[in-house]
Amino acid sequence: MSAREYGVFLPIGNGGWLVSTTAPHPDGSYEYNKTTAVLAEQAGLDFVMSMAKWRGFGGSTDHWGNTLESMTMMAGLAEATEKVKIWATVHANIHSPAIAAKMFVTLDQISNGRAGMNIVSGSYADEFEQMGLWDATMSKEARYQMVEDWTRAVTRLWTEDSVTMQSDTFTLTDCVSRPHPRVQPTLISAGRSPRGRKFQAELCDGAFLSGDTMEELRESSRDVHDQAAALDRSVKTYAMLTVVMGDTDADAQRRVDVIGSGVDVEALANMRVSWGMPRDRATSWTESATGQDAFQTPYVVGSPDTVLNHINTVVEGAELDGLMLIFPDYHADLPAFGEAVLPTLRAQDAARTTSGLVAS
Ligand SMILES: Cc1cc2nc3c(=O)[nH]c(=O)nc-3n(C[C@H](O)[C@H](O)[C@H](O)COP(=O)(O)O)c2cc1C
Repeated sequence: MSAREYGVFLPIGNGGWLVSTTAPHPDGSYEYNKTTAVLAEQAGLDFVMSMAKWRGFGGSTDHWGNTLESMTMMAGLAEATEKVKIWATVHANIHSPAIAAKMFVTLDQISNGRAGMNIVSGSYADEFEQMGLWDATMSKEARYQMVEDWTRAVTRLWTEDSVTMQSDTFTLTDCVSRPHPRVQPTLISAGRSPRGRKFQAELCDGAFLSGDTMEELRESSRDVHDQAAALDRSVKTYAMLTVVMGDTDADAQRRVDVIGSGVDVEALANMRVSWGMPRDRATSWTESATGQDAFQTPYVVGSPDTVLNHINTVVEGAELDGLMLIFPDYHADLPAFGEAVLPTLRAQDAARTTSGLVAS
C-alpha cells in the first residue's frame, strides 16, 4: 500500500480554474506560479503540475488569454524548489519525440530526479489551427495511436543507445539521445475515455481521471489499476478537486456565492466550442448556466474539517491514489490548507498505511 499523493494544478493561465469576474484572478505569470510552487513545497505537497494551453477563451475575464509555456516554466520552478515533484505537460502532436526526450532529460538534471511528463495528444482544434499544426484527418483512435508510438519512442531514447523507428507521424533513424535521464521522468496522462485508460495502463505511471459521479470515477480508477496489474505494472490514479475553504462552512459558502455571482458565461461558451460543441448549442447552454459553472472541476466547500472529510471520502470512495488540488486564491489558500488540513491527512494516511502493512 503506497502513500497517497497530493499536488497542485498550477495556474499557468490567467484566471486559474475559476471562470468568473468575481473570483480571485491569478495572472498566470511566472512570479505568481513560482510563489505558488514554493508555497506548495512548504505546505508539504507532493507535486506541482502545469498544463499546456495555446489559446484562451475570451469573455469578460479573457480566461486563459495569457498562458506561459509549460516545460520552460517548470524548468524555472525546478530551480526554485527542492523537494516537490515537477510535472510539465507536452503535446505529442507538435514535438518530435527526440526533442521532447532531451527537454525532459534536461528537466531531470535541473530538478535532480523530480521530473514528470504529462503527455497530451492535442485534441482542441482551435489551438493548433492558428499555427498550421492541426491535422483534421486524424481520428481519436489515430491520435491515441500516435501518442502511444510517441511515448514508446521517448522511453526508448531515454534507455537505448540508438533508436530506429517508423510511425505514421514520425521517423527516427539511428537517433541518438544522450545523456539518458538519471531518474526516468514519471509519465502521466489525463483522459477519461476507455482508449485513454488503455494508454495509461500500458505506458504511464500516473493517470488523471474524471467522472460525473463517484461511482463513475471509481470504475475508471479500478479499470486503470486492473489493466495495469494484468500487465504486471502499477499506475497511480488521481482526480482533480477545487478546495474552497473558510474558517467555518458558512464562511466558505460565502466565498462560493461570490465566485458564482460573476460567472463568465461567454468564456464558458467559447470553451465548449473549443471542445467541439456547435456554437448555437454553446450559446443556448449559457441560458441555463449557474454560478456552479464557474468551477471547472468538482469542488468542496467548507471548514478545514469538512475539507478533510471530503478528501478522504473521495479518495477512498473512488479508490484513488491521490488528488490534484486547485485553490481560488493559491497564495492565501495553500498555507491555510498546509496548516489546517494536510498534517491530519498525512497522519491518517500514515496510520492507514501502517495498518495495511500489518494486515497484509
Ligand atoms: C488533469 C488534466 C490535465 C490536462 N492537461 C491538458 C493539457 O495540458 N493540454 C491539453 O491539450 N489537454 C489537457 N487535458 C485534456 C486531456 O489531455 C484529454 O484530451 C481529455 O482528458 C480527454 O481525454 P479522452 O480523450 O481520453 O476522453 C488535461 C486533462 C486533465 C483531466
